[in-house]
Amino acid sequence: MSVHVLAPGRVNLIGEHTDYTGGLVLPMAIDRFTEIRATRGGDRVHLTSLDEAEPIDLPLHIEQPNQVSPAWGRYVAGVMSEMSAATGQPVTNGLHGHVSTDIPIGAGLSSSAALEVAVALALGFEGTPLQLAQLCQRAEHRASGVPSGIMDQLAVAAGVADHALLIDCGDLTVQPVPLPAGAEIVVRFVTHRTLVGSPYAERVTQCAAAEQLIGPLRHATEAQARRIDDPIVRSRALHVVGENQRVLGFVSAITAGDLAAAGRLMIASHDSLRHQYATSTPAMDAAVAATCARPGVYGARMTGGGFGGCVVALTEPGALSTGWVVRAVNGARVVA
Ligand code: GLA
Repeated sequence: MSVHVLAPGRVNLIGEHTDYTGGLVLPMAIDRFTEIRATRGGDRVHLTSLDEAEPIDLPLHIEQPNQVSPAWGRYVAGVMSEMSAATGQPVTNGLHGHVSTDIPIGAGLSSSAALEVAVALALGFEGTPLQLAQLCQRAEHRASGVPSGIMDQLAVAAGVADHALLIDCGDLTVQPVPLPAGAEIVVRFVTHRTLVGSPYAERVTQCAAAEQLIGPLRHATEAQARRIDDPIVRSRALHVVGENQRVLGFVSAITAGDLAAAGRLMIASHDSLRHQYATSTPAMDAAVAATCARPGVYGARMTGGGFGGCVVALTEPGALSTGWVVRAVNGARVVA
């Protein structure tokens, strides 16, 4: 039986490094896709990709997804392991086919989440978008060892055309928020990066340390965060507390059509990632500053896990000639 699956990438408009403390995020699925065309059946998963030198060829039962070679097969193996963990059985059918993508790989636009979600659907996953996202988040942990949050997989699985998604990562509710008419969202690629081996995991630990002191950051106040003695843990907590507020402010601003206010919140988010959360780089700071200096740009910020990647900007139509205008699209689906 042949199967054709599409899974979009995502860009996060605001709400960075809040998901793993049950905070608020505002991503949207974008019109860049990872696609799998394959035949279901057999007892191996064999996939080729034009973006990868080597194909992957895996048995249905895999002990250690994080040891698979070539490395892109780890995400596939992670999904297979999680699907069998969910049912107590190895995945029942193999897959033979091809993966293609126009999501830049390793650029902070969730190419790995799109691959995971596409593989799960190609293998026959059945369940809600939230269940799909949770399975793929666990697969990502198994594959990469990075203790990432739920945002990427949930945005990829649950995207809604023409809307951003206000996700409460505490209760995992997803509220579509209409994007403002008369504005563009533009993504500019700056540098490749990987979260594997980056300080991402250390940030997760620092937030846990803050929560030991003042309780869940989602419900903490700025005053509580300010009373943390350790200056590094304090600044991480201040970022998260402030960022959750900025997400709500951004949603109010775009709902009211106040794009200037929304843009200011994006700039404040970037400043906080730079100074309080220390996940930016000089190249990202320079790209954000250069983008914000252009006429017609309301605001811009680094998007995704950081240490490189892409800048996202909110602009008047046609304001930027570099980068690409992204549209919000529906989440991943089996096309045929
Ligand atoms: C990566 C992770 C997400 C999230 C962002 C930062 O994209 O996969 O879970 O933590 O970084 O907002």
